[in-house]
Amino acid sequence: MSIIADDNDFKHTREEKNPVTKAETIEFDKNFENCIRPKSFDTYIGQSALKEALQITIEASKKRELPLDHLLFYGPPGLGKTTLAGVIAEQMGAEIKITSAPALERPRDIIGILMSLKGGEILFIDEIHRLNKVAEEILYPAMEDFVLDMTTGKSQTVKTLRIPLPKFTLIGATTKAGALSGPLRDRFGIIHRLEFYTEDELAQVIKRTAGILNIEIDTKGAHAIARRSRGTPRIANRLVKRVSDYALVKHDGKITENIANQALDILKIDELGLDNTDRNLLKLIIEKYNGGPVGIETIATAIGEDTRTIEDVCEPYLLQAGLLQRTPRGRKVSPSAYGHLGYKKYSDQQTLF
Ligand code: ADE
Repeated sequence: MSIIADDNDFKHTREEKNPVTKAETIEFDKNFENCIRPKSFDTYIGQSALKEALQITIEASKKRELPLDHLLFYGPPGLGKTTLAGVIAEQMGAEIKITSAPALERPRDIIGILMSLKGGEILFIDEIHRLNKVAEEILYPAMEDFVLDMTTGKSQTVKTLRIPLPKFTLIGATTKAGALSGPLRDRFGIIHRLEFYTEDELAQVIKRTAGILNIEIDTKGAHAIARRSRGTPRIANRLVKRVSDYALVKHDGKITENIANQALDILKIDELGLDNTDRNLLKLIIEKYNGGPVGIETIATAIGEDTRTIEDVCEPYLLQAGLLQRTPRGRKVSPSAYGHLGYKKYSDQQTLF
């Protein structure tokens, strides 16, 4: 696998930036993630319907001796899109080149990668919704006809040069399927959504990771971490390390339910996996905007976060957990958010304003 590229109550304090509960990748995590990534469908936990569909697609493509159709994975960050691309490559016996759209800024970046591909190779482009127009247009004929259409010269002397490319498979990943241009989306033969993981699946991920890292953990300890991992393996894996630090310093190193709960309380991660940013966002809407609806820009400014992080990282889980709702007029908290944050009954709260 080659990696090419790679004084307002509601404002964050310095330590809260980059919290352990946010599923975007940070540079520091990459090595750790690469060490524990499952390499086969057997060791990849969760996403069972998707895994089954992919295994059939792979089998069929091997029988036909043709490369796999281009694939698009979408869903919130941290659910294993890159990992799955690696598993597919392994299963196909193919090489994989990994890059992300922001690293393909200039035409020569995408041309260089396409020209370096070998037959049957997989090209993985993360955050593919962020590809610029020029890169997208270079990609269309490459995806469709495995050619690069290059133009040389100016106005009247302009010439088009068609360069054949080896047959390859593009795997695109995005947290925002809706932000992908129609023509690009239409060029993917297979489009799959990754789902949040169940508590049981996350507990299995946690046990597997603990095994690799030589961390002792019992089943209840794994479930205690799983419950607060926002349905996201990347967060679960980070929490295992943090809880293990606590277990080692304060106890005998073994993670039990009690130890996990103590460590997670210290990290201010609550029973639903919410951190200070999530709670501040919900509190803001309840206390200042009577439960909403309120625009995303207003929320972002008030809590000192950028809109993209709120939309891509915080919101998917708050929506899935049923704490937040998206309406055409902005974001609204749902009645269960009042109870979760310790406000009196939703209806009592509504009459306060
Ligand atoms: N680590 C991260 N995602 C995983 C998964 N789906 N299965 C096993 N380990 C993982």
